[in-house]
Amino acid sequence: MRWDLAESRCYGAAVAPTEPERFCDERARENALFYVDDQVDYRDPDTEAFWRRGDETLEKILSPLEQTVSPQDTVVDIGCGVGRMTRALASRAARVIALDVSQEILARARELNAQVQNVEWIHGDGRTLAPIAAGSVERMLLPRRVPAPPRSRDDARVRA
Ligand SMILES: C[S@@+](CC[C@H](N)C(=O)[O-])C[C@H]1O[C@@H](n2cnc3c(N)ncnc32)[C@H](O)[C@@H]1O
Repeated sequence: MRWDLAESRCYGAAVAPTEPERFCDERARENALFYVDDQVDYRDPDTEAFWRRGDETLEKILSPLEQTVSPQDTVVDIGCGVGRMTRALASRAARVIALDVSQEILARARELNAQVQNVEWIHGDGRTLAPIAAGSVERMLLPRRVPAPPRSRDDARVRA
């Protein structure tokens, strides 16, 4: 199974991959919504459209792959940002583990999604997935540029 995600801007050419957290924290402090989705106005974001695009983007990812998220699924959202797609996933799945390398953006995600009950917000690196228990999840949503995504069949954290 392959999950793909519209362009993540975390790994710009000028950013050393060893510094993703610092870089992402800075972007989150600067303007978290714009950083996640640059279709929003930098100064006056249309938040309704922002959350709606989370749903639309998820659908654009799932449809071509003929994948669905089922009510019994546990899904990992790697690079969850402020939870734009996490929220859409949470409305379909039993549980979402939302992982991000940036504590700053996770703080905003928790605040903006306080009403969403079935999400665990976890600080971690999508390259290692270290906090996620082996064999505990069915699905992973990966940003295209997080290096070395887990292999779905071989990685013990994903039940094939
Ligand atoms: C452009 S945002 C996308 C957020 C969300 N997936 C969405 O589409 O709304 C990319 C996110 O990936 C996170 N990120 C970047 N590198 C990461 C890594 N190695 N592990 C986990 N998260 C990472 C960033 O902090 C940022 O919140």
